[in-house]
Amino acid sequence: MAPRKIIIDTDPGQDDAVAILLALASPEDLTLLGITAVAGNVPLPLTAKNARIVCELAGRPDTRVFAGCDSPLERELITAEHVHGKTGLDGPPMDDPTMLLQEQHGVDFIIETLRTEESGTVTLCPIGPMTNIATAFQRAPDVVERVQEIVLMGGAYFEVGNITPSAEFNIYVDPEAAKIVFGSGVRITMMPLDVTHKALTTKPRVDAFRAMGTKVGDMVAAWTDFFERFDMEKYGSEGAPLHDPCTIAYLIKPELFQGRHINVEIETESELTLGMTVADWWRVTDRPANATFMKDIDAEGFYALLADRLARL
Ligand code: RIB
Ligand code: CA
Repeated sequence: MAPRKIIIDTDPGQDDAVAILLALASPEDLTLLGITAVAGNVPLPLTAKNARIVCELAGRPDTRVFAGCDSPLERELITAEHVHGKTGLDGPPMDDPTMLLQEQHGVDFIIETLRTEESGTVTLCPIGPMTNIATAFQRAPDVVERVQEIVLMGGAYFEVGNITPSAEFNIYVDPEAAKIVFGSGVRITMMPLDVTHKALTTKPRVDAFRAMGTKVGDMVAAWTDFFERFDMEKYGSEGAPLHDPCTIAYLIKPELFQGRHINVEIETESELTLGMTVADWWRVTDRPANATFMKDIDAEGFYALLADRLARL
């Protein structure tokens, strides 16, 4: 089967970085048409820089990286330096990238790609706030039906929120954008905290990265060491969730995940529950199903895939 064509929309972020590395390490499964950076974990200039650092680390300076939106549709940007550090990729020392950013705006790249590639053959992988995707859909409604699938990291239900008691960060930063995406009618597979919190960076798993003896393995281990301190302190867990790579792992090996096709709505009005993904897991409403909500993962299989693929870089 031909590799799936994808666009990764991202706010690197250590876990975003691992997702990008996994995609670049899997050419037999995925063709990365481009990376569009969005403001999220850190401001846009840094997410656009970090995406290029990761591509160069993977030995792929030919990857096209575009800067997208620098703030949410309607709200002030909220960032997460408390989790990812000032640079967004804190942990190991890093050189500035030498590869250039593309001139074209990320939203225009998404629109142009969806219009020029055969309809139904491009998957969008938003792993940050969905501002770029929603802006593309607003600016060019004709491209919505041309999307093959949206595989996103975001939301939470049983696991509740991580940035507020009821909201997950990617949704909370731009709830209006998330509402547009979840209301678009595009096939959606979502990786909420309910599943990503079952994919923890335990010590044996991080040691496996370090044991690779490669620059990529060392960098991923160092990023993980930094990134996990926040979640381990907060949750008392034995590692941190590697959120964003779950989307890419799903595209490579969907059998690692189990979930349910249900209705998911986004709260955009209430101050108290802003950004909550209201998941009708028990189907108690007649609201139409609009997303496959992933709730379980074969964590050992996930980390085995990660270790196998990252060792290639
Ligand atoms: O809540 C986790 C999400 O927020 C991940 O995508 C992480 O990178 C941050 O963007
Ligand atoms: Ca992210």
